[in-house]
Amino acid sequence: MTEKHTFDINEETLKQQLDEVFTEDVIEWTKPIMQNFTKLMAYYRCAIMEVETKFNVLNEEFSLRLDRNPINSIKSRLKSVPSMREKLKKMGCSLNAESVEENLNDVAGIRVVCSFTEDVYTLANALLKQDDITLIRTKDYIKNPKPNGYRSLHLIVCVPIFLAHEKRFMKVEIQLRTIAMDVWASLEHQLRYKKDYDFDEHMSGELLRCAELSSELDMRMDSLRAELQDEME
Ligand code: GTP
Ligand code: MG
Repeated sequence: MTEKHTFDINEETLKQQLDEVFTEDVIEWTKPIMQNFTKLMAYYRCAIMEVETKFNVLNEEFSLRLDRNPINSIKSRLKSVPSMREKLKKMGCSLNAESVEENLNDVAGIRVVCSFTEDVYTLANALLKQDDITLIRTKDYIKNPKPNGYRSLHLIVCVPIFLAHEKRFMKVEIQLRTIAMDVWASLEHQLRYKKDYDFDEHMSGELLRCAELSSELDMRMDSLRAELQDEME
């Protein structure tokens, strides 16, 4: 006598059951990865707070001495997870906490907008002199602007954060620029992200001209500042 099978699970039900079981398993496997990631992002936030505080302290001190604020504004950001994934993918690396920490320098980003070009260098030097700050890389796009006209001083530094039971060193990207450099970079960024084609020669030329005008503005304002300072001394 042949045995009679009853196929009481249709394809749809099978798919649903597999989905449920595997989703549960995947959540279980990824839990430690997600926890590590969340912890790392909290460490980067702490590193941003440390460096922001250092700049706020320097701003206070310099304002007393100079009778004006060398820092106009400070903006900080953590890199988004999709941007981290995209950058790591381009580098051929996978997305996990260890890889982020090892391969990315710009997860924690701080932009310090200064009043005058001289303030950019005064603040950068004052920060780098602090004995808990280690300089990893400098890119001086003020002395050597990018071909499109972009100017700013970029520093990658390592800063310690003190946790209950350990001390961790975190990398932070610092961009220091004047108000004029910030205006140019913000507008260039807006134009670049709005268009869905590359800048043509005329547009690139115009952008470069605007960068040169903004650089001239900075130089003239800096000369005025130096003149006034001389007169006051
Ligand atoms: P990325 O972070 O991948 O760009 O690597 P990198 O280390 O080569 O970058 P770099 O230090 O040259 O610049 C990093 C950051 O500076 C960017 O994420 C921007 O915020 C800013 N930046 C650099 N070039 C430009 C530019 O041409 N225009 C504007 N608006 N911002 C720029
Ligand atoms: Mg970047």
